[in-house]
Amino acid sequence: MNKISIKKINYLDTFPVRSAVLRQGKPIETCSFLGDDAVDTTHFGLYIENNIIGIASVFKTNNKNFDIKNQFQLRGMAILEEYQSAGFGKLLLEEIFNIIESNQVELLWFNARETAVSFYEKLGCIKKGASFEIPEIGTHFLMYKYFNM
Ligand SMILES: CC(C)(COP(=O)(O)OP(=O)(O)OC[C@H]1O[C@@H](n2cnc3c(N)ncnc32)[C@H](O)[C@@H]1OP(=O)(O)O)[C@@H](O)C(=O)NCCC(=O)NCCS
Repeated sequence: MNKISIKKINYLDTFPVRSAVLRQGKPIETCSFLGDDAVDTTHFGLYIENNIIGIASVFKTNNKNFDIKNQFQLRGMAILEEYQSAGFGKLLLEEIFNIIESNQVELLWFNARETAVSFYEKLGCIKKGASFEIPEIGTHFLMYKYFNM
């Protein structure tokens, strides 16, 4: 049995997966997000043995659509293509939900790619408002999930 683990990682360790999945064919600089190295940003890596196959990050960013003080933003969620549709995304996001919940966070929000909306809905997240375009990336929906409410 291969060992699967989820660890807190440095933002630089997200770049190989961000590049392969979220910024395909784009320069490596596009893998850097504003606030990556902020003290209240946390990056998570899903590993099979010593190989990182999935990532997601949580930023302390408020969205004015929500009148909630303790809110965080999920960004850069990705599973390497060859490992998709095998339950790893669910495993990683549920672990992040557990951490969010145990840290008294009230809301997690994110801009979901249209193609991933059903994945998030299956995990209890809700769409808010109409779709919108993020240049060079595509159609997105604002989504959220409440905790500790
Ligand atoms: C979206 C993503 C993170 C999901 O991770 P994953 O490991 O492939 O998903 P899982 O295998 O854990 O799927 C969990 C459930 O969601 C469903 N699901 C997964 N991706 C889906 C999708 N794109 N559309 C619809 N349903 C999806 C699965 O069928 C599964 O359903 P089940 O529990 O009824 O069997 C991953 O496919 C990915 O990295 N995609 C490309 C990048 C991307 O879109 N990232 C999100 C940016 S907002």
